[in-house]
Amino acid sequence: MKIFTKTKNLIEYISQFRNKQIGFVPTMGALHNGHISLIKRSVQENDITIVSIFVNPTQFLENEDFDKYPKKIEADKKVCNFAGVDILFIPSKEEIYFKDELSIVAPKTKGFILEGYHRPGHFNGVLQVVLKLLNITKANKAYFGKKDAQQLYLVKKMVNELFLPTDIIECEIIRDENGLALSSRNDYLTSSEKERATKISRSLKNAAKLISNGEKSSKKIKEKIKNELQDIKIEYVEIVDRDFNIQNEIAIGDSIILIAAFVGITRLIDNIWI
Ligand code: PAJ
Repeated sequence: MKIFTKTKNLIEYISQFRNKQIGFVPTMGALHNGHISLIKRSVQENDITIVSIFVNPTQFLENEDFDKYPKKIEADKKVCNFAGVDILFIPSKEEIYFKDELSIVAPKTKGFILEGYHRPGHFNGVLQVVLKLLNITKANKAYFGKKDAQQLYLVKKMVNELFLPTDIIECEIIRDENGLALSSRNDYLTSSEKERATKISRSLKNAAKLISNGEKSSKKIKEKIKNELQDIKIEYVEIVDRDFNIQNEIAIGDSIILIAAFVGITRLIDNIWI
């Protein structure tokens, strides 16, 4: 596995693979089995797999956890090597960003609801860095998790509307044995908070069961979830269609139920695709 910290060197190295199929997995590190599932899929489906580890400052709000975001760089290197990664890119901020640079703005509606509403500016930062990374790696395929459903939707929208040549591959959510969606931020949870956090995924599963038994009302499903999560500080529970329009009536095959909630001071997101 080759490791690069300089963008210029990486671009030069990649130029020899022009005739190869390149898969790319962007991450912020502290890798867990969710990330690893994306990496393994890329290794399987491509000649060359590139992984980036970059805690992107522009997608964090002023009061968020940028400074204490978990860092496990030595463990991450081992994980990548073991999973068959060919190239690991670990740039500094200066290797990615310029002074007074132009910027991408997330779409006014879909980028400013839900996560975009509660984390204003977040998706501008995500799209800015993803666009840069796709251009640096010239990936044929890039792998994103359904865990961050709105991010996945917006990245696909950007790729489509900016006519980028990369295929965006959607990957399933990986959970622990109790159902908790894996996240680098789970590191912040105490063991009792972890226990409490499993209620989030359980409420989504129960909602899916109700829906498969015929319930179609988004209002009723949202109420049911809120009832189940009374000892958790919910930021939002929302139901959207696959195009991220708020949905009043659930349609099997075209609905996503999304939750953002605080367990203690840790903000978690989860969702289920119906
Ligand atoms: P990060 O949170 O490190 O996630 C990297 C990728 O792993 C994302 O596509 C995310 O959806 C996926 N992922 C995280 N947890 C997952 C899980 N439990 N199951 C399946 N996939 C999971 O998302 C980001 O970083 C950043 O916003 C990034 C895209 C790298 C831009 O900075």
